[in-house]
Amino acid sequence: MKVSRRATFNAAHRLFRPDWTDEKNIEIFGKCSNPNFHGHNYVLEVILDGEIDPETGYVIDLKIVKDAIKSEIDERFDHRNLNLDCPEFKDLNPTAENIAVVTWNLLRSKLPMHLELTIKLWETENNCVEYAGK
Ligand code: NI
Repeated sequence: MKVSRRATFNAAHRLFRPDWTDEKNIEIFGKCSNPNFHGHNYVLEVILDGEIDPETGYVIDLKIVKDAIKSEIDERFDHRNLNLDCPEFKDLNPTAENIAVVTWNLLRSKLPMHLELTIKLWETENNCVEYAGK
């Protein structure tokens, strides 16, 4: 049984590698490498997979998931510049892929280990990445 909780946050970023020239950054990342940053309305889906607890009838009380997203993700990333404000991305290019990995790692320790955790992160209406620890 899979249950999920959806959340949104807004953040700015720039795709950029400091060890590459400006020309190479533009060539690889295009306008996502614009030096003045740009924003996204990220949509996060946190999916937990496991057995229904016969006592409660829940896989997990989704309030626990809601609270973990608020404290671990929202308070860190919402209305922030990921490159400048968030130490998690000081040396890590804030692509949707890397944001999903960081998000998974932050939430994994806050959610019951007997439930398999998957993160889906929508960066635009059409682009989505999914991470489940691999
Ligand atoms: Ni972008």
